[in-house]
Amino acid sequence: MKRQSTRIDRLPTNFFAELETKIAAIQAQSGDVIRLDIGSPDLPPPPEVINVLCSSARQPNHHGYQPHNGTAKLRQAWAEMYRDRFGVLLDENKNILPLIGSKEGIFNLTMAWANPGDTVLVPDPGYMTYARGALFAGAKPYYFALHPQNAFLPDLTSIPKEVLKRAKMLWLNYPNNPTTATAPLDFLKQAVQFCLDYQLILCHDASYSQVCFEDYQAPSILQIEGAIECAVEFNSLSKSHNMAGWRTGVIVGNTEIIKPLIKLKTNLDSGHFRPILDGAAQALSTPESWLKARNEIYNQRRNVVLKALKALNLSAWSSPATIYVWCSVPAGWTSLKFVEDVLEKARVSLTPGTLFGQFGEGYFRIALTSPTEKLSEAMDRLSKWKEK
Ligand SMILES: Cc1ncc(COP(=O)(O)O)c(C=O)c1O
Repeated sequence: MKRQSTRIDRLPTNFFAELETKIAAIQAQSGDVIRLDIGSPDLPPPPEVINVLCSSARQPNHHGYQPHNGTAKLRQAWAEMYRDRFGVLLDENKNILPLIGSKEGIFNLTMAWANPGDTVLVPDPGYMTYARGALFAGAKPYYFALHPQNAFLPDLTSIPKEVLKRAKMLWLNYPNNPTTATAPLDFLKQAVQFCLDYQLILCHDASYSQVCFEDYQAPSILQIEGAIECAVEFNSLSKSHNMAGWRTGVIVGNTEIIKPLIKLKTNLDSGHFRPILDGAAQALSTPESWLKARNEIYNQRRNVVLKALKALNLSAWSSPATIYVWCSVPAGWTSLKFVEDVLEKARVSLTPGTLFGQFGEGYFRIALTSPTEKLSEAMDRLSKWKEK
């Protein structure tokens, strides 16, 4: 048997795929497990989105290959969303490329830009795909730390000049997964200036920009003057409209940065299913009141969890955005040992902070993607676990 490629050797296995097997074994032995690990929304998309999906699927001519850049209607819908929400004007034919989920674009943009030997600057803790794309491209991830002392914002000036010389791309993600931190406009301004100074491609992942509470509105990096010179932004309907399984996201921003990704995608995929493109366009015209009501559900869930964690003397980061809570593990535990023990003994599945990098040590992540009663029950189980 020949050996698989060395590129594949560089990729770690998927944590959640392995977790499924572990959970299935526990369920078979001792009953239900409350899943607060993966961030997959439990609530449905807006009803009109489903109607559009179904009526589009009934059209006999909607089942063939679609253009690699989606439909004009979908690109226009993203342009309108960026105009109305962020005051950012985009040309739907130059600055917008629909994706098969933002994860696909995050991975492939790195493939399209990074050469072996290049450095890609990624946050730690951070969403895994930034580094995975770099590893697969043969590039070297350089992990910069996000610490609570700095509100989980990086100190970009601490990146050594030698590293910056070899660096091609900088990844940022606010509102942030896993820390839930948000970024003030001042920080985003600094980041844009930094990338202009060091000629870096600034990749901002704004996948959680529409899951905000209590009047907080997450900004787009493209609101910053000069950002269009160096930046692209990823967005997604997975969390914003409860459509994670639909696989529909977007990259917007600098047209020259997007171009090689288009070339790669025209070689790699063959567009998306037309009813999904139509449903996605519909989702983007959902009234703000729907988003507000849905976000209020997450807010209530978050408050239940924060209160319970406080009662357990566990210190959680309070943030006005995302579908997660980021919390310190009890004293004397590592992230992994804590999460393993809670899974085994309390039958609550959490995500260890170390999944997101070495600076995730000492933390665990809770996904708020279960009904309040389930979250309360999980907190009760955690409390009993802690008493033992
Ligand atoms: C920060 C971040 N970016 C991107 C993604 C991928 O989202 P999508 O479903 O659009 O591929 C996720 C998914 O959890 C995420 O947490």
